[in-house]
Amino acid sequence: MNRVLVTGGAGFIGSNFCHHLVTHTDANITVLDKMTYAASRESLAALPDDRVELVVGDVADGAVVDPLVAEHDAVVHFAAESHNDNSLSDPSPFIQTNLVGTFTILEAVRKAGTRLHHISTDEVYGDLELDDPARFTEATPYNPSSPYSASKAGSDHLVRAWVRSFGVRATISNCSNNYGPWQHIEKFIPRQITNVIDGGRPKVYGAGLNVRDWIHADDHSSAVWTILNHGRIGETYLIGADGEETNLDVVRMILAHLGRPEDDFEQVTDRAGHDMRYAIDSTKLRTELGWQPQFADFAAGLARTIEWYQEHQDWWRPHKQHTEATYAAKGQ
Ligand code: NAD
Ligand code: DAU
Repeated sequence: MNRVLVTGGAGFIGSNFCHHLVTHTDANITVLDKMTYAASRESLAALPDDRVELVVGDVADGAVVDPLVAEHDAVVHFAAESHNDNSLSDPSPFIQTNLVGTFTILEAVRKAGTRLHHISTDEVYGDLELDDPARFTEATPYNPSSPYSASKAGSDHLVRAWVRSFGVRATISNCSNNYGPWQHIEKFIPRQITNVIDGGRPKVYGAGLNVRDWIHADDHSSAVWTILNHGRIGETYLIGADGEETNLDVVRMILAHLGRPEDDFEQVTDRAGHDMRYAIDSTKLRTELGWQPQFADFAAGLARTIEWYQEHQDWWRPHKQHTEATYAAKGQ
């Protein structure tokens, strides 16, 4: 795995993965990224030029994808439209990038024989009730709720079909909610941190009782590298760090860390079709491949993330006003 093509590597998790590889491996990386609103050159700026190259292009463009894929030992396919709220406003780019883009990657690895790891999400399984003792496993039936999660579910099915029908050498991982540096401020944790840094109030959808299972992006990265190197072809691995928290509790932790009263938040219009709870059982990944998360303490990881956003205001501040105006127009 010396030459790795990372699609979507200028986004939140993809850029964290590039940092992880530069720090912990000898791999050379090519990032293929369309540089949508969600991408950031700054997230890659500290990485060495002789190990990380950025190619600006679309994963749905075979003329760009085919030769790049052929030059690499492995493709790690992060590129996607990733935000549920955007998929409710306009599903079209989600179908194009998440489905047609994955199809294009699959055709390229089929022709070149390149190893593929496909990055997916726990949202393909739908949601769980708050009082349900169950967690998602690799055997949980698919039941996606939003245009985003349906497009990711479809992309997983494409990967499995290409493995079975064409012998493509691919693995899939479905991870829970990530947090950490370089996450776009449209997403829950950075939105609330930056609201509070700005002197505003966190905006909680509905009653705020929804549960997400948080994992640090660096732990997601180490899991993906483990699966790429040691996972069994055709297998799916769920990635999670036992980090279930209600949205209200996360907001209270952010407020407390920044010295504000814990009830100093607003409840705003709920998300349509809002999934109640996600929870990952990552036993297969831990027992079969020996992976363990390093950020086992969510409160400590969140505190580091809050400090990162305090220290990187130049990065997020230019986008804050537009992001909040888009939410405000929807009553959120
Ligand atoms: P992100 O939105 O921060 O980054 C996505 C990146 O993909 C951006 O750099 C964007 O420019 C790029 N991209 C979008 N369309 C493209 C196209 N057509 N061609 C090339 N590049 C394109 O997303 P993220 O949160 O980093 O998520 C990355 C992957 O991880 C996605 O596949 C997502 O479904 C999955 N995932 C995310 C989470 C999470 O909590 N954020 C959890 C589990 C899985
Ligand atoms: O579970 C994995 C998924 O996690 C990934 O596949 C997605 O790409 C990623 O965006 C994330 O999806 P969510 O919809 O769970 O994340 P988001 O940050 O949008 O919202 C997290 C929770 O917080 C959710 O219950 C909605 C709520 N929320 C979100 C925002 C932006 C709020 O209460 N207020 C907000 O302002």
